[in-house]
Amino acid sequence: MIKASTTSAKRLEGKVAIVTGGAGGIGEATVRLFWSHGAKIIIADIQDNIGEALCKELDENALYVHCDVTDEEQVRRTIDLVVENYGKLDIMYNNAGVLDMATTSILTIVKSDVEKVLNVNLMGGILGAKHAARVMVPAKKGCILFTTSASTSIACTLCHGCIASK
Ligand SMILES: NC(=O)c1ccc[n+]([C@@H]2O[C@H](COP(=O)([O-])OP(=O)(O)OC[C@H]3O[C@@H](n4cnc5c(N)ncnc54)[C@H](O)[C@@H]3O)[C@@H](O)[C@H]2O)c1
Repeated sequence: MIKASTTSAKRLEGKVAIVTGGAGGIGEATVRLFWSHGAKIIIADIQDNIGEALCKELDENALYVHCDVTDEEQVRRTIDLVVENYGKLDIMYNNAGVLDMATTSILTIVKSDVEKVLNVNLMGGILGAKHAARVMVPAKKGCILFTTSASTSIACTLCHGCIASK
């Protein structure tokens, strides 16, 4: 059980944030951090049981929504649901990501593996940004974030699709 930050330390009080891939890993850690700072958090993921369990562990300020970021209709519906429920969207964190099969050579990559990764990591982020911007631009405010990787600046010889996606 994590503790909410003290009032004076709450930097996201009143903010509404979606975290894609929020059921696990970096996304889950971000959900816990944003929640502890007073944000209303929407966990958008495909791991329903884990996402719902995380919401139960937190409180009414956390909501789970099944959202496959590669499906534009699901992304659109998630954003619309958030605006209907909370009246706004302040933060869209496009974090959901997957890895392709680890291979040490470009010669052995499999096209379908790479396409799958690009669809989640790249297209998922683009769709999230598009639909967040759809509501943020008229509101003239909002913050759109992405999880990138150190592989954008350091040579890396594994998981070529994932690295290309970043
Ligand atoms: N862990 C690392 O070392 C590392 C390094 C560089 C970049 N990243 C990036 O950080 C981000 C998070 O990675 P992580 O390590 O926490 O991974 P993780 O596997 O622990 O978590 C990823 C989450 O994304 C969700 N997800 C996967 N496909 C999805 C989809 N189609 N729609 C919605 N949700 C989906 C998963 O269910 C999971 O909850 C990714 O974008 C990843 O590329 C991670």
